[in-house]
Amino acid sequence: MVKKLLKSLREYKKSAILTPICVLVEVFMEIAIPYLLGILIDQGIEQSNLSVILKLGALLVVAAFISLFFGVESGKFSARAGAGFAKNLRKDMYEKVQDFSFYNIDKFSTSSIVTRLTTDVTNVQDAFMMVIRGAVRSPITILFAMIMSFTVSPKIALIFLIAAPILGSLLILIAKTAHPVFERVFNTYDDLNNVVQENVKAIRVVKSFVKEDKEIQKFEKVSQSIYKDFRKAEIILALNNPLMQLTVYTIITLISWFGAKLIVGGSLTTGELTSLITYAMLILNSLMMLSMIFVMITMAMESARRIVEILDEVPDLANPKNPVMKVKDGSIEFKKVGFSYVKDPKKLCLKNINLKIKAGQTIGILGGTGSSKSTLVQLIPRLYDVTKGELKVGGINVKKYDIKTLRDQVSMVLQKNELFSGTIKENLRWGNKNATDEEIVKACKLAQADEFINGFPDKYDTYIEQGGTNVSGGQKQRLCIARAILKKPKILILDDSTSAVDTKTDSLIRKAFAEEIPNTTKIIIAQRVSSVQDSDQIIILDNGEINGIGTHEQLLKTNKIYQEVYYSQTKGGSDDE
Ligand SMILES: Nc1ncnc2c1ncn2[C@@H]1O[C@H](COP(=O)(O)OP(=O)(O)OP(=O)(O)O)[C@@H](O)[C@H]1O
Ligand SMILES: [Mg+2]
Repeated sequence: MVKKLLKSLREYKKSAILTPICVLVEVFMEIAIPYLLGILIDQGIEQSNLSVILKLGALLVVAAFISLFFGVESGKFSARAGAGFAKNLRKDMYEKVQDFSFYNIDKFSTSSIVTRLTTDVTNVQDAFMMVIRGAVRSPITILFAMIMSFTVSPKIALIFLIAAPILGSLLILIAKTAHPVFERVFNTYDDLNNVVQENVKAIRVVKSFVKEDKEIQKFEKVSQSIYKDFRKAEIILALNNPLMQLTVYTIITLISWFGAKLIVGGSLTTGELTSLITYAMLILNSLMMLSMIFVMITMAMESARRIVEILDEVPDLANPKNPVMKVKDGSIEFKKVGFSYVKDPKKLCLKNINLKIKAGQTIGILGGTGSSKSTLVQLIPRLYDVTKGELKVGGINVKKYDIKTLRDQVSMVLQKNELFSGTIKENLRWGNKNATDEEIVKACKLAQADEFINGFPDKYDTYIEQGGTNVSGGQKQRLCIARAILKKPKILILDDSTSAVDTKTDSLIRKAFAEEIPNTTKIIIAQRVSSVQDSDQIIILDNGEINGIGTHEQLLKTNKIYQEVYYSQTKGGSDDE
C-alpha cells in the first residue's frame, strides 16, 4: 500500500531524501553540543581557563549555527516533499476519477470521493512529513544520546535503559487504543460530507419544502458522532503529555540525586552531569516524537487505504485493444439487451430490448417515471455497459469503439444536466472547443436559445453561475441542447430536455432539427405526447420493457398506454395545445 502511494512522489523524491540527510547533520550537532558544553564547564569554568572557554564557546556557537541551518533546510525540504507529494497524489487520484464510469462513481458516491481527495490526502501528507523528519531523527538521537551517556557515566545511563522501554510501551499502548476511534471518525466524515453536499446542492428544494429543521437535525446527528469520537480519541492522546512530564522529571531527579552522590565521591564532574541531563531531555523528547509519529501513522493508514482504494479501482469501461476510430452513421440496434445497475442479471432494469433505428430517424420514447427511459439511452454513448445482449451503433458493437470517438458522435443532453460557472460561450464550447462564433450562434438558433441570449446585456458573454442558477429552467435546457448540437453528432439524445420549455418553443426546436440536421439520428424522451407525436417511431417503455413500437397513428390504434396518455393530455387540455 505504501509503495503504491510513494509512486506519486516523483519529482519530489530528491527533497524527500535530502530531508533525513539534513536531519542527520542536525542531530549530530545536537549530540555534540552537550558534550562540548560538559568539557567547557569542567576544563574552562571550573578551572578558570579563559582560552578553553573562548575556544569551546566559539565551537559551540558554530555547532549551534550548523544545527540551526540544517534544521531549517530539513524543514524546507520536508515541506516541499510533503506538499508536492500531496499535490501529485491528488492529481493521480483526480485523473483516475476522470476515467471512472458512472458505475464506478455510483460505487464510491461523490461525497466519499471528495473526502478522499481532500481530508485523506492531507492526513497522509502530514504523516509523510512527520516520518521523513522524525523517523530518522528520533531513533538516531536516542541511539547516540545513549552511547554518549554511557561514555560519560555508565552508572547513570542505566537509569535511561530502565526508563525508556517502560515509557515506550506505555506510549504504544496509548496510540493503539486511540487508533480504532480515529478510524471510525474518518468514516463518519464521509457521512458528514454527504449530508452537507446533498443539502447545499438541493438548498432550494429544502427551503421550498421548509425542511431546514430536519436537515439541521440530520447534520447535527453526524456532527455529534464525530465530536464524540474525536473527543474520545483526543482524551486518550492527551494522556501522552502528563505521562511524559512525569517521566522527565522523575528521571532528572534520579539523575541529579545519583549524580550529586557521584560528584561528591569524585567519580563525576559537574560538566558531565550537565551533559547527562541534556541527553536525558533529548532521549525523552525523541521518545515523545516517536509516539506521535506512531499515532500519526496509525491515523494515516486508514486514509492511505481509502486513497489506494481509488487508485486501485479498475475503471469499469476501458477502451478496447484496437478501437474503431470512426462511427459510420447514426444507426442503432439493440439486440436482446438487458441491463442492471449492479451487474446482477437477476435485478434487471431493462429486459429483453430489441430495437432497430435507422440513421437520421427521429425516435420518441414515452413511459412513466422509473420505466427506465434514461437507463435505455445511457447505454448508447456507453455511459454504462449492457449486462446482457448486444448494442450496436453504426453497425458495430459499442464496446469496439474508442470511447471518446463514440461519445463525440453520440451527444446526450442528460436529464440532470449541468452548466458550469463561466460565460455562455465558454459553456457552449464544452461541446466543441474549436467551435467558431458562427457555429455557436447557429447551434443556439437551432435550440431556440439565440433570442433570449441576445436579450441579456452581455449576450454570449453573459456569466453563468455555478450550476446555472442565474438562468431559468427552460433557458438552461436550451443552452444544454445547443451545447450538445455543437458537437455535430451523428446521434443526438434529449432526455426530457424540453420539459421546462413551452410547447411552442418545443415544436420550433423539433422543426429546426428536422430541417437543419436531417441526417442526425434524434432520440427524444418526453412526457408530452406532442413532443414525440411526429417521430418516425415512438417507443413505449413500461417497467423496463418495450410495451409498444410504432408511429403515432399505429400506436393510437393498438397501444393502451399510448391511448391513455394521449387522451389524458389532449382532452384534459393539460399542457398541450
Ligand atoms: N445510478 C443508478 N443506480 C441504481 N439504480 C438506478 C440508477 N439510476 C436509476 N436507477 C433505477 O433504475 C430504474 C429506472 O430509472 P430511470 O432513470 O431509467 O427511469 P426513467 O424512465 O428515466 O424515469 P424518469 O421519467 O423519472 O426520468 C429506477 O427504478 C431507478 O431507481
Ligand atoms: Mg429519466
